[in-house]
Amino acid sequence: MALIVLAADKGAPGVTTAATALGAVWPRPVLLAECDPSGGDLAYRLPAHDGGVLNPGRGLLSLGAVARRGLHADQIYEHTQKLVGGLDVLTGLTHGEQAGGLTWLWGPLGRSLAALPHADVLADCGRLGAHAEVGDLIAEAAQVVLFTRPSLDHVAHLRERLALLDGRPVVVVVADPRSYRASIEEVRRIVAPWDVAFVAGLAHDPKGAELLRGQWGGRLDRSLLIRTARELAGRLAALLSPETAAGERTDRSGASR
Ligand SMILES: Nc1ncnc2c1ncn2[C@@H]1O[C@H](COP(=O)(O)OP(=O)(O)OP(=O)(O)O)[C@@H](O)[C@H]1O
Ligand SMILES: [Mg+2]
Repeated sequence: MALIVLAADKGAPGVTTAATALGAVWPRPVLLAECDPSGGDLAYRLPAHDGGVLNPGRGLLSLGAVARRGLHADQIYEHTQKLVGGLDVLTGLTHGEQAGGLTWLWGPLGRSLAALPHADVLADCGRLGAHAEVGDLIAEAAQVVLFTRPSLDHVAHLRERLALLDGRPVVVVVADPRSYRASIEEVRRIVAPWDVAFVAGLAHDPKGAELLRGQWGGRLDRSLLIRTARELAGRLAALLSPETAAGERTDRSGASR
């Protein structure tokens, strides 16, 4: 189905948190893939489906070890694990140095992820720019989503990035709920000269972000983070395939209620 790249230009606006929240509420079957060449965080942040810990050696690292002679979409699920809530995840590299030996991986990985027959893929690509070879994966994406905070420095870097990107990215502002609409509107005004698909928001919600790291359930489901992620997931899924907008729901954020 569709490969959706989630990324930022500079700073840490909350791409990994957003990727996890979107994965939890994505309205279709989905795989969360940690494609940040600087290294992944999920294995250290989130419990596995059985309450144990995720194995950081099973994921991009194990895939990279076997994929040199070619990579097919069928092989992807041999390297995934299940997160709390049942979300399938391909864990990332354990540190950035590993990316140096895997520069060849991003193109084949992007093609395989885009060709997964039964699931969309949310690929957390981290901060763009430092590892140009990740561009080979981004080139395969149906949609790029750029995250930013509403501060001047973040938005300045976002504008630089928009000037470099092809296609019509979505821009997501991780914004304080107290100035949510105003922050989104301000960023929308600043990026107006660029052809973006839409500018949306995601709540900056420390309590929700904390709940996302634990056992998922009703309190997380009602958090601002998840409520705004659900709205964003609906808009993104509708952009990719309008007929699913009001269709099937596979919400996982309350799966352990
Ligand atoms: N929507 C949010 N609400 C509240 N806190 C958040 C939110 N998103 C991220 N954070 C917090 O900000 C910090 C960085 O978040 P995260 O790891 O998601 O950022 P990132 O953009 O993936 O960073 P990096 O580029 O280093 O991978 C974490 O402590 C996280 O809990
Ligand atoms: Mg991250």
